[in-house]
Amino acid sequence: MIALSVRAGSPAAFRVPLLAVVLPSGKWLPRGLGALDRLTGGTLSRALRAGDFKGNRDETLLLYARGRGPERVLLVGIGPATTPAALSRAATLAGRRASAMGVGRAAIWHPQGAASLEHVLAGGALGAWEYRELRSTPKPAERKKPLASWTAVTPKVDAEARAALRAARAVAEGQNLARTLAVMPGNLCTPEFIAKTARDMARRLGMTCTVRGRKEMTALGMNSFLAVAQGTPQDPKFVLLEYRGGKQGDAPVALVGKGICFDTGGISLKPADRMEWMKFDMCGAAGVLGAMEAIARLRLPINVVGAVGATTNMPSGTAVKPGDVVRAYNGKTIEVANTDAEGRLVLADLLSYVARNYKPQAMVDAATLTGAVVIALGNIATGVLGTDQGVVDEVLAASKRANEPAWQLPAWPEYREQMKSDVADIRNIGNRSAGVITATVFLADFIEGAPWAHLDIAGTAYTETDLTALGRGPTGVPVRTFVEFVRERAR
Ligand code: BES
Ligand code: MN
Ligand code: ZN
Repeated sequence: MIALSVRAGSPAAFRVPLLAVVLPSGKWLPRGLGALDRLTGGTLSRALRAGDFKGNRDETLLLYARGRGPERVLLVGIGPATTPAALSRAATLAGRRASAMGVGRAAIWHPQGAASLEHVLAGGALGAWEYRELRSTPKPAERKKPLASWTAVTPKVDAEARAALRAARAVAEGQNLARTLAVMPGNLCTPEFIAKTARDMARRLGMTCTVRGRKEMTALGMNSFLAVAQGTPQDPKFVLLEYRGGKQGDAPVALVGKGICFDTGGISLKPADRMEWMKFDMCGAAGVLGAMEAIARLRLPINVVGAVGATTNMPSGTAVKPGDVVRAYNGKTIEVANTDAEGRLVLADLLSYVARNYKPQAMVDAATLTGAVVIALGNIATGVLGTDQGVVDEVLAASKRANEPAWQLPAWPEYREQMKSDVADIRNIGNRSAGVITATVFLADFIEGAPWAHLDIAGTAYTETDLTALGRGPTGVPVRTFVEFVRERAR
């Protein structure tokens, strides 16, 4: 993990290979940058005056400095308004550049105060993240240094700033964990590996972890989840993590995640083209584990239960077939009309198990559930739906604070018509329309009255397009939204 720190001082006085300086649009050198301008021989103010650097969003300019301060100055534009979201994005872009350049250590000048400090610290870590575990080590001469440290240089470091640092470290650890799990291929990030990760985390951070396999789930009647796991010899894992930061007996917040370690579609097989992306189908589970890591590190005064359902969805002689009917944990029968709509089958049992056995104060799940959400919202916004508008509103507000954009779609009962089965209580697919919504109204049959919201992160947890501040790959979504949601509930 990248080392995060804060340091009191002025931007010209900190010795570091690269200092990022965030600038809003404009021609004038902001106050406090005179000394830094002189270290660059005046090129900083000249670049502004000449309009070579306008301060537009995502615009960057690299300058070189002399003297005992920063060796390089990276100007990063944020456009007209200095909002926490804009600062966060700028820090992420700066972290990404610093990491790509191989400078080893970098800092960011942060005169804006403690309120946005956490964003700038965690944002830098987000941009600097890379996964090199599976690459052979290059020759020493060709080796690029990873970004080992990210420091916010700020006029003063008070108690609030130190709290922001601790929070940023916790969030960054959680995002780190989630992204590493997400990027790992299906042969390495197996259900067993997910269970082991949760067990290790519980031991490290003082949580309780329960892992159930095929045998235990059979005894519990989790036949909807088991139907998905029926085609694979790998033991499916139902993982429960309990964090107790609140009073004994207080209802927990429940976080629930889809953990399909690889989704072939099963007998309703997916086309071969780009099927390799389907290793990402456990990003909901990764988000839950990442959030639990951060929540436990933050020691939030609240009880939280994290539930993850991990398996692969494989075609085989034992696999569930289109048309098969199974009885879910809550007793409802499901016609599996399409074996590729497997995430909702796993979630059906997770949601009803958690709702019944924990009576949560709020239940939020995250899943890479539908291709339809990618068509609707692309890689930019997470789809948010739910049966409890209060919880949905809290999730939307949390996603704003987290700088993880989200947008609500309706989960009205009118859409339930599509899910009617000729033989069972419900069918696991609708027709071709409103795919994000029909998946959600399916889940709504299994929430057992819990105040609930659902995040469809199929477009946002793992991006196939370069997002400028972040490259292709796992984004850490929805770790931070989860953390912000729980943090607010803990207040
Ligand atoms: N994991 C996929 C969702 C997905 C598909 C995410 C493509 C990103 C890109 C999910 O299990 C799935 O296959 N959903 C089907 C549902 C359909 C059969 C009703 C889909 O979206 O095509
Ligand atoms: Mn599928
Ligand atoms: Zn899937």
